[in-house]
Amino acid sequence: MKTLHMIRHSLPRLLRLVPVGAVFLACIASAAPVPDKPPLPPVRVPKTEQGVTQLSDEQMKWLLDAKFGMFIHWGLYSGPGKGEWLMENQGISPEKYRKYALPESGNDYFDAKDFHPEEWAALAREAGMKWMCLTARHHDGFCLFDSPHPNAFTSQQTLGRDLVAEYVKAVRDAGLKVGLYYSPLSWRYRGYYDVTGQEMLPNKFGYTQNPSDKESARLMKEENYVNVKKLLTGYGKIDHLFWDGGWLGQKGTDAAGAFFHEPGQYLDPRNEWPVPAKYQDLEPGTNKPLGIMGMVRKYQPDAITNLRYGWVGDITEEEGGRETKGPIRDSVYQDKCMTLQRGAWGYDKRAQSEGKTVSADELVGYLANCAVRNMTFLLNVSPDRHGVIPEFQQQQLRQVGAWLKKTGDAFYGTRGGPWQPADGQYGYTYKDSTVFAHLLKGYAGDSFLIPPMGRLKVVSVHDVYTGKPLAFTPRDGGITVTGIDRESSPADTVIAVVYDQPVSNVWKN
Ligand code: GLC
Repeated sequence: MKTLHMIRHSLPRLLRLVPVGAVFLACIASAAPVPDKPPLPPVRVPKTEQGVTQLSDEQMKWLLDAKFGMFIHWGLYSGPGKGEWLMENQGISPEKYRKYALPESGNDYFDAKDFHPEEWAALAREAGMKWMCLTARHHDGFCLFDSPHPNAFTSQQTLGRDLVAEYVKAVRDAGLKVGLYYSPLSWRYRGYYDVTGQEMLPNKFGYTQNPSDKESARLMKEENYVNVKKLLTGYGKIDHLFWDGGWLGQKGTDAAGAFFHEPGQYLDPRNEWPVPAKYQDLEPGTNKPLGIMGMVRKYQPDAITNLRYGWVGDITEEEGGRETKGPIRDSVYQDKCMTLQRGAWGYDKRAQSEGKTVSADELVGYLANCAVRNMTFLLNVSPDRHGVIPEFQQQQLRQVGAWLKKTGDAFYGTRGGPWQPADGQYGYTYKDSTVFAHLLKGYAGDSFLIPPMGRLKVVSVHDVYTGKPLAFTPRDGGITVTGIDRESSPADTVIAVVYDQPVSNVWKN
């Protein structure tokens, strides 16, 4: 009280003492109070939408712990090698597009002859990745699995092989989590652009409006239902499902296509695009026909799904190679997906010959930017028509893996925080009694200030990459770390601050 009283009385006098007073006041104004501990992380409350509830934190744990996964875009389009959108880009009819499944297309023939998924899995492990996700069917509608639907176009028909079965076995055998990508969008159905049969949306295939398009759209949905059920029931435990392409006629949002796809818990008996009774999967007990996520939760209750079938998803996606920015995503889980080959996700001969590949150093930056925001990172590779991941892509992955061998402790099993990151500069992860500060390329300098951690005491500080101890001195309730070597690991210099008790204690009274 006495001090406050004194300040109140002396301030007017100080104001008159210019310039000394001005400097003094400026100091008071700019020195924002340093909180004595990090703010409480927000609580994530699983949402229920369309009758389906998001997975619990316990069910999401493996993904957040895993941090880094391998995405694989591979399919018929890997034959011509012009990216996975070739069919649409060039408006190639389904009849013509089939040729890539036939030896007569020569160097454009998708023969899968060197497909050894155990090599992919070994590479993923070497890269420090903990799960894999393969395009079981992309937008061209070609299934890499043996679909029981009469309209399906599959690798079983063209190669006599269920490639998904081979992949799933190899991934599981390697001790990695199994992911599958599936696109409800299929360019093999003209009805995709005209689900009502009354309005043909712009398309490159030359389709014009026809009332029969409504039935074509319904068939597309029916095939999806049968395919999804096969993927959920035919391949053992699936850990991750990446839906992609719920939007209709390549317009609007995935959520806006939900009235058609029925991605929720049940199928509506009054829906205008009905799945016939013979294909319907019923809920035990009620005998109500299940929707897409209804089937997922019935057969794969722990599979983590994203939002692109039109249901809210257990995770959202940040897609593409722009730098990840902004605050920690801790009330909504977010995955970043991007492709190692610059440009297309599927094999692109041109990008390959021009060496358009993201470098290992850049990948480290991407991974760090995800981890400090509590996000996961799904990095795509583009195998060629034989099933081989281009050597240059492999090299980048191996380099990241070698780096993670030294620094993995600052990633696996950590959570983003406890403090917010500074875009392009630095951020933090934590686990047990350690906080890891990640100093990125944009942060200049060889010293770093670690904010206060309440009653937690710093025991030691070291450079995670070199393993060397670092000097530190008390500062503003926290510490200043000095003499940091910024050269050994410039893309992400990782500093471990070890406390005398678990970091989570900082939020306990
Ligand atoms: C983009 C691409 C698509 C790819 C997807 C992966 O949407 O257009 O082909 O499968 O990204 O997230």
